[in-house]
Amino acid sequence: MDFSIKAFDTKNTLAAAKTGCVAVAVFENKKLSSAAQALDVNGDISAALKSGDISGKAGTTLLLRGVAGVAAARVLLVGMGSNDAITEKSFGSAVSAALKVFGTLGSQDAIIAFPMADVKDRDINWAVRSLVIAANEAEFRTDSQKSKKDPLPAGVRKLTIAAAEANQLKGVLAQSIAIANGMNLTKELGNLSPNVCTPTYLADTARQLAGEFGFQIEVLERKQLEALKMGSFLSVAKGSDEAPKFIVLKHNGGKKNDAPVVLVGKGITFDTGGISLKPGPNMDEMKYDMCGAGSVLGTFRAIGEMGLKLNVIGIVAACENMPSGRASKPGDIVTAMSGTTIEILNTDAEGRLILCDALTYAERFKPAAVVDIATLTGACIVALGHHTSGLFTRHDDAHDALAEELLDAGKQAGDVAWRFPLGENYNEQLKSNFADLANIGTPGAASITAACFLENFTRKYTWAHLDIAGTAWKSGANKGATGRPVPLLTTFLMNRV
Ligand code: BES
Ligand code: MN
Ligand code: ZN
Repeated sequence: MDFSIKAFDTKNTLAAAKTGCVAVAVFENKKLSSAAQALDVNGDISAALKSGDISGKAGTTLLLRGVAGVAAARVLLVGMGSNDAITEKSFGSAVSAALKVFGTLGSQDAIIAFPMADVKDRDINWAVRSLVIAANEAEFRTDSQKSKKDPLPAGVRKLTIAAAEANQLKGVLAQSIAIANGMNLTKELGNLSPNVCTPTYLADTARQLAGEFGFQIEVLERKQLEALKMGSFLSVAKGSDEAPKFIVLKHNGGKKNDAPVVLVGKGITFDTGGISLKPGPNMDEMKYDMCGAGSVLGTFRAIGEMGLKLNVIGIVAACENMPSGRASKPGDIVTAMSGTTIEILNTDAEGRLILCDALTYAERFKPAAVVDIATLTGACIVALGHHTSGLFTRHDDAHDALAEELLDAGKQAGDVAWRFPLGENYNEQLKSNFADLANIGTPGAASITAACFLENFTRKYTWAHLDIAGTAWKSGANKGATGRPVPLLTTFLMNRV
C-alpha cells in the first residue's frame, strides 16, 4: 500500500478531491461526521442515512456512486457507532470495514476521512498508526512458498489519509510505515516453513538487515558458544543437525556512551519438545517458536528504517529443539554460562534454557534495560488468550517504571500486554534436589515460574520478559504470524528517545 496524508480545507475541499472513493464516518443516531457533512453538498448523504440503508453501527457500510457535488467517483459511508464516544473498538471496526470495501473496488486510490482526533483516550498519532497497520495487514499475503502466487488483491493500492494536521503527521506516518514493514518481516519469518527458516536462515536475514540499514553484526558459531561456556543453550542445540546461531545486532543511533536497550529473542526455529516429545496434532505450529527472534529482527527493520536516535542491541539465540541420540534427556544437569547448574526435568521447557545464556551474555553491554521476547509457555495462552501478551518484571521502583513504559507503549500501539507477579514464592517452585535450579516448576503458575527461571539470570540489570505465546500467531483457517509485538517494542524504543 502506498500511503500519504493530506489536509482538506476550504481551498482544497474534500468534495473537490478527484479519487476513486472517499470514506467518511456516520453515526448511529443518523448524525454525520464533519467530513460526511462536507460531502453532503446536495443532501445526498443525509438522504442515504434517512433511508435507513445504513444503521451507523460500527462497521456497517454503504457505497454510493455519483453523489451530487462530489468529484470522487464513490462515497463510502462507514458506521462508527455512537458519536459522543468513538471507542478504540468502534474506530477499529470502521477502519477494517472500509478496508474490506476498498479491497473490492474497481479503483486503485481512495481517501479515508475519518474523525481521527476524536477517538476516546487515544490521540491522532494512534489513529494514524492503527490505520496504517490495519491497511498493511489487509494487504499482507504469504505466498513465497507457493508455486503459483496469490493474485494481487484487487482494489485500492494508494491510500490518502485526510487530516487537518497533515504536516505535523508526516513523521508519524513515516514511523507507522516503518512499523508495518517491520511487522511484515516478522510475519514472513514466522510463516516460512521450518525446513527453510533455520537458525542459519535467521542469521542470513540479520546479515541482510545489517547491510541494508548499517547495523553492526556478529554471528557466534558453536565453537565460540562453547568458549563462552553457554552450556545451557548448547544443551538444546545439540539434539539437532542444524547449526545453532547466536546473533548480535547493534543499532548505534544514540550517543556513543549511552547505555543501550537490549532486546533478546527466543529463536527456536522448531520445537518438537525434544525427548519430552510434544503430541502430533498441531505440532507444525511450533515453527512459530522463533517469533520472539522474528520480532527482534522486525523491530530492527523498523528502527533502522526510521533512523531511531537510540542505541539498541538485538540478541537472537537460534537453534532447533529435536529428539536424537545426542539430545538432552530428562534428568540431565547442565551448567549455564553464569555458572548456575540446571536440572533439565523436561526437555520441552527449552526456551528458558537458551534465553538464560543470552541474558547472561547481555550483561557485557551494561544495558539501560533488557527486554526478552519469547513464545515461552502454553500456560500464557490459558491465562490471557490471544489478545494480550504477558509481561513479567521484578517488583521495585526501577522495574515498575520499566513495566509501565512497556504497558503504555502497548496501549499506544494497539499491541497490549498485561503484567503478572513474580516473587520468591514462585521461585521456590523451581527447586531441584540435584542442581541449583530445575527447568520446570512444581504444578501451577507455569508462565510465572518460567519467568522466574529467567529472573535468576537477570539480576545485574533492569529487565522485563514478554511471553508472546498467545499473540505471535493465529491458528485455524487464517493461520499466520501476527507481527506482534513489533508495534509495542518499536513504540517503547521510540518513547525512549
Ligand atoms: N514453545 C513452547 C510454548 C508454547 C506452546 C507456545 C504452545 C505456544 C503454544 C515451549 O517451549 C514449551 O513447550 N513450554 C512448555 C513448558 C512446560 C514443559 C513447563 C509448555 O508450555 O507446555
Ligand atoms: Mn518447548
Ligand atoms: Zn518452545
